[in-house]
Amino acid sequence: MPDLKVLLSRDQIAKRVAEMGEEIARDYRGQSIIFVGVLKGAAVFLSDLARHVPLDATFDFIGVSSYGNRPTPKEDPAGHAAWDSLGEVRVTKDMDNSLTDRHVILVEDILDTGLTLNYITKLVEAHQPKSLCIAALLDKPSRRKQPIKAKYIGFTIPDVYVVGYGLDYAERYRNLPDICVIENP
Ligand code: IMP
Repeated sequence: MPDLKVLLSRDQIAKRVAEMGEEIARDYRGQSIIFVGVLKGAAVFLSDLARHVPLDATFDFIGVSSYGNRPTPKEDPAGHAAWDSLGEVRVTKDMDNSLTDRHVILVEDILDTGLTLNYITKLVEAHQPKSLCIAALLDKPSRRKQPIKAKYIGFTIPDVYVVGYGLDYAERYRNLPDICVIENP
């Protein structure tokens, strides 16, 4: 049986997400924004975050997957195998809205190597938004392969594999209310 240990409780998450929302609301006061969530992991975070931003806002989503199979924590407990060197991303669901001349906030569950968001950032930039920034709930800076800066970060965490609050292991555990470290999956 996998061993799940709470790293960030639902209360800690709720408090921090509310703070992030307040920060965004201050920074974009008087403006309209579009949140673009990266499926599927960011769906839970986006829905909580957006409700703490009392501005004129719309949602969109982009779906991506990596070429080849990203190794699971079991196959690659240290998390440094093939994905790091392959790092190719493909779009499985494109955005529905035009982002041209809009204030875009890319919403991501976790920043790991940075490959996914680097790729998505370039895609969004091609739409010529008025502004573009990243809001990531979690950041694992020790795993970074490509430089990427998020304007809003919820928590910086060590190099561990986490599930819950939208994050999965083989599509499971997304519905856990806490963020947990998964061991022996
Ligand atoms: P990156 O391209 O390496 O930055 O990977 C970002 C994506 O990898 C995230 O959107 C997640 O889908 C996935 N990911 C990275 N670390 C974890 C983790 O600890 N748990 C669950 N998914 C993760």
